[in-house]
Amino acid sequence: MDQRTRNLIKAFISAYGDRPTLGVRAPGRVNLIGEHTDYNDGFCLPMAIERDVRIVARPRKDATIRVLSLEQGGGLVEFDTGLNIPKASIAELRWADYVKGCVQVLCEEGIRVRGADLAITGDVPLGSGLSSSAALEVATIHAVLSASRKALPAERIATLAQRAENRYVGNNCGILDQLSSACATKGKAMLMDCRTLKLLPASLPKGVSVVIADTGKRRGLVDSEYNQRRQQCEAGAKALGVSHLRDVTLHGLWHASVKARIDQQTRRRCEHVVAENGRTQAAFACLQAGDAPSFGQLMDQSHADLRDKFEVTCRELDDLVAISRSLPGCLGSRMTGAGFGGCTVSLVQDHCLPTFVPAVTAGYRSLHDLPVAVYVTRAAPGAGRLVLR
Ligand code: GLA
Repeated sequence: MDQRTRNLIKAFISAYGDRPTLGVRAPGRVNLIGEHTDYNDGFCLPMAIERDVRIVARPRKDATIRVLSLEQGGGLVEFDTGLNIPKASIAELRWADYVKGCVQVLCEEGIRVRGADLAITGDVPLGSGLSSSAALEVATIHAVLSASRKALPAERIATLAQRAENRYVGNNCGILDQLSSACATKGKAMLMDCRTLKLLPASLPKGVSVVIADTGKRRGLVDSEYNQRRQQCEAGAKALGVSHLRDVTLHGLWHASVKARIDQQTRRRCEHVVAENGRTQAAFACLQAGDAPSFGQLMDQSHADLRDKFEVTCRELDDLVAISRSLPGCLGSRMTGAGFGGCTVSLVQDHCLPTFVPAVTAGYRSLHDLPVAVYVTRAAPGAGRLVLR
């Protein structure tokens, strides 16, 4: 047991006067390629990161849930399980609303949720595109199920967590974040088919590392730009006569968009999604072939489209990518997550890491007065039990 878990248990005992009986953890994720494709039924290529949300808990005899967060403060939040948990107000969204949303969704599913005392700790940076909210949702569902002596398949936990975020929190996200957190495999990235929810694992090529760099620029939790991009994709699919952009090829898009007279902007959005689906499958083939340089090139192309066609990058992300790309040993770099701020992900040769990390930090600091952070991460396992002894 490490120090974070020890601190969590200590906080639990001092709040509730007894030891927790169970513990769970759920990781954040970094998406290597395949951005804004999940809600188009397309492909993503994420892996879980070595940062997570941990929850320790103890079942209660009544229907009350009590929960505290070590980092977010605000004391104990208390509510009863059932179908009438008040919906979160988007303007005042708090961490506890994600917990409430998950309990509500489980109750809606007809699962008899018992009361429990919970304590939460997390080290996934918030609002940075590394899925801190998905980690919280997936960990909450695991903890509440476990306290109720119930279990569900990991894929089902992911879809319930997504539903909590869509319906309760009001963020119309796809399945990428929750499925990554719930189902990741240690040491592997995974090709995610967002139509079938099938995952194909693959190792990263030897001699390279995944480096995440945080711009320090935060995007709002419920981003209207995100929901707007999603609507544009849906409008594009409708005009092209398909249910999702997954079913369109670049060639087909060109012909069909001329006929359907799709406006220029919608067409650019569609072009990114269609090309990104192809790049993501090609990137998976690169992993299978151990071809890191070609994988890196696909990452670069992905960033260029997200900047020029999908328009979800910002100065800070573009600068961080350009700095990373100019350094020795960097094979490819792009924004990761929804965009508009948050993190970049780069593929860097291991022998260059000792110079890469300080050079990215210094380069970014010379341009922006924001708290930059750089993490080198291996692929972590998906959600599961936390050992308490
Ligand atoms: C956010 C959403 C995901 C996905 C990405 C963009 O992380 O939660 O569902 O759409 O943005 O790829």
